[in-house]
Amino acid sequence: MIGPQQEATLAGVARLLSAPTEHGPGLAAHRAHFGPLPAPGEAGLIDPVTRSGLRGRGGAGFPTGRKIAAVAAAGGRPVVVANGCAGEPVSGKDHVLLELAPHLVLDGALAVATSLGADEVLLCVHRGDPIAPSLRVAVAERGEEGRAARLVEIPGRYAASEESALVNFINTGTARPTAKPPRPYERGVGGRPTMIANVETLAHVALVARYGADWFRAVGTADSPGTTLVTVGGAVAYPGVLEVALGTTLGEILELAGGRTGPVGALLVGGLGGGWLPAEPGAAVRLDHADLRKAGAALGVGTVLAMPAGVCGVTETARIASYLAAESARQCGPCMFGLPAVAADLWSLSGAAGDPMTIMRRLRRRLGLLPGRGACGHPDGFARFVRGALDTFADDFRGHAHGRPCPGDGRAWLRLPASGDSTPAGWR
Ligand SMILES: Cc1cc2nc3c(=O)[nH]c(=O)nc-3n(C[C@H](O)[C@H](O)[C@H](O)COP(=O)(O)O)c2cc1C
Ligand code: SF4
Repeated sequence: MIGPQQEATLAGVARLLSAPTEHGPGLAAHRAHFGPLPAPGEAGLIDPVTRSGLRGRGGAGFPTGRKIAAVAAAGGRPVVVANGCAGEPVSGKDHVLLELAPHLVLDGALAVATSLGADEVLLCVHRGDPIAPSLRVAVAERGEEGRAARLVEIPGRYAASEESALVNFINTGTARPTAKPPRPYERGVGGRPTMIANVETLAHVALVARYGADWFRAVGTADSPGTTLVTVGGAVAYPGVLEVALGTTLGEILELAGGRTGPVGALLVGGLGGGWLPAEPGAAVRLDHADLRKAGAALGVGTVLAMPAGVCGVTETARIASYLAAESARQCGPCMFGLPAVAADLWSLSGAAGDPMTIMRRLRRRLGLLPGRGACGHPDGFARFVRGALDTFADDFRGHAHGRPCPGDGRAWLRLPASGDSTPAGWR
């Protein structure tokens, strides 16, 4: 079978990132490497994408074939939205993909549009993203072929790139998530069924359209087939974005990034909505939805960050929880009251303020109240993240509770952006 090479290389398995970079990301170089995009057969893309087992790369891992089928079944003239906002501040994969292979993403979006009979394709990025000018060039190149796509710039808030927030912004100019139902596949942009997919997901669709479902499944696991982009960072020699076969272990991924630069205390996997794992036995866990869920984390947006030993897990969790609480849209109960209260409890434990046993009991009770109660999945990701911390850093939490000296050296580890403008203007 012809196709971009999929041999194991030092950088993992190159499919999405297989094009030689010296020819640039233009349309002619893209076509020379990947070949023309075939017109979808009579049955469209639903069958090959479903058989490929492709799962969304935007966080939740939803089966992409099922999503395309749901949009098709909703009837009417659909819209396709490519989510390139890369809202997770610890993930760089969507940026790298949009920089190196913008036409693979556009191929996927346009192929889905053709298959669904959609006449509008929107590519969303955060406002002011430095990638926007080069994407405008790529979109214009496709316009010359008579295939329209449009770039949409979304306010730069964490929750503004959730799918219903994108629809809300395009329809009303406010990027806050909305209550479901209706979900975008039922009624989205302009009230029409809307297929929203992460840009990496669409780039994989472009490869499935060219090379087929069997080719796609030739690497990866039964539960999570194919390759995926991972952002590797923290205590590794060469932090960056790699393409690996799903099923690669977290330890192998650290090795592909040049190996650990010192003792590692824990792994933060899947982004801020993913979860913590202890460095050992976490390194043996495979990058696979089912395996990571069993271990207490989530594949999420495919980040693998190695936290150095010597960083306090309690304080680090409190810092990240405060960031996530500040980045919510503050319109649902769990985000208005629950997230800030949990973050405050974590800071109390970190600073040994108050009775630790009472705080711990309250924290667990509050965490139990968060999942499933917001208009979007933000509180669910937050709760998973904090619960994972309670397990992974159980010794640190016990030590803080019993007034033992903190094993941390006072360092703040993860670099987080400043929180955005939380007034209504920040969402427009
Ligand atoms: C708070 C929040 C923020 C999100 N931000 C992004 C994002 O920046 N990019 C993205 O692709 N998906 C993001 N998602 C997931 C989207 O809602 C949506 O599920 C995704 O774009 C669908 O793509 P997929 O099926 O290809 O994974 C976010 C979800 C939540 C709850
Ligand atoms: S759950 Fe939180 S982030 Fe999601 S819509 Fe409600 S307030 Fe906003």
